[in-house]
Amino acid sequence: MKILAIESSCDEFAAAVVEDGQRVLAEAVYSQIDLHKAFGGVVPEIAARSHVEVAIPVVEECLEQFRAASTALLSPSKLKPDFDVWDDIDTIAVTNRPGLSGSLLIGTLTARTLALLKNKPIYAVDHMEGHVYANWLNVDTDNQSFKRPQFPALALVVSGGHSQIMLFHSHSNYEIVGETQDDAAGEVFDKVAKILGLPYPGGPSIAKAAEHGNADKYQLPIPKCANPLDFSFSGLKTAVLRAVQAEVGVDHTFPSFELAARLNASSRDDFAASFQKTACLTLAKGMALAFAKYQPKSVLIAGGVAANTELRRLLALELSSVNDGKVSISQTNPIICPELKYCTDNAAMIGARAYFLSQYAKPDDPLAMEIGVN
Ligand code: KG4
Ligand code: ZN
Repeated sequence: MKILAIESSCDEFAAAVVEDGQRVLAEAVYSQIDLHKAFGGVVPEIAARSHVEVAIPVVEECLEQFRAASTALLSPSKLKPDFDVWDDIDTIAVTNRPGLSGSLLIGTLTARTLALLKNKPIYAVDHMEGHVYANWLNVDTDNQSFKRPQFPALALVVSGGHSQIMLFHSHSNYEIVGETQDDAAGEVFDKVAKILGLPYPGGPSIAKAAEHGNADKYQLPIPKCANPLDFSFSGLKTAVLRAVQAEVGVDHTFPSFELAARLNASSRDDFAASFQKTACLTLAKGMALAFAKYQPKSVLIAGGVAANTELRRLLALELSSVNDGKVSISQTNPIICPELKYCTDNAAMIGARAYFLSQYAKPDDPLAMEIGVN
């Protein structure tokens, strides 16, 4: 089954054609990072307006790639001049929740219109479920070293808008067993980057600065929540702010946007490293508790923050010390991570999720499809 998937929940408009939930046949994306950089975060109105401009060109570029890939596979005798790529698309999928409302609306309306015009079934996909299914992409079933996720699967999904631990019993049945009580993990990377004067998006720039920093220089707190599998990051963000104020010798009345100019490069890198270690350890410790409790067959990570190397390292370390799991995390049974480009927002993951959704759920009505912000 070939699915044309569209993702536009935040600041990226992306389209992809995915076969059988795993093979990416074509993909195109327009990232708005440069549009939002000056503001240090995504401006929803700018995001939606940009999506309007790029929606059709991105879908066209993706279909053009798909046409090139399809014609390359056909024997010359089968090549017809009027070959229509739409004949080869079985289904359309689109992220309809959660995300920024203006952004979601553009992608959803694009997909609904295409479904009606081309008379294709359409599936609405949850963005967080989509992130998890990035772990099914580009599965080479002949390659023994590749680990196909097994159920029950425990997934740490950490993005700019959400942070949660999801326990998948099957493709159609999962529960959220832990989640952030305030800021999302990616959001706190972005906000701390702003305090430290590092560019948006904060995740990659903190990771880069942290390479030169001392992660043990500043002791930062890991808060405890009533449900030990939940997370909280707003206290960590404030702790960084207070520690930076103390470092440069000012109090809480000093404007935070002027702090970075007073911070020397080596302290900034030490802050980046100390913060990154604490944030990643918070997530890794929560996952270790969930791993011991649910004894999953697979552990997956997903979302923009899953691109973080320190998170991957600390998660492996924390999980390897949980001995009573049915499976232990080791070289032969590693944590399953998406390719780096499929950690951050992309349309291929939406196509993967939609394929498995289509195995048990009916398509949605394109005329009735709504968006969900939360
Ligand atoms: O999943 P995503 O692309 O979009 C949302 O669904 O929100 O995640 C974006 C978030 C941003 O907050 C960004 O700073 C963070 O992922 N991020 C990272 C890294 N790369 C992106 N955080 C930590 N380390 C990274 N290498
Ligand atoms: Zn996302």
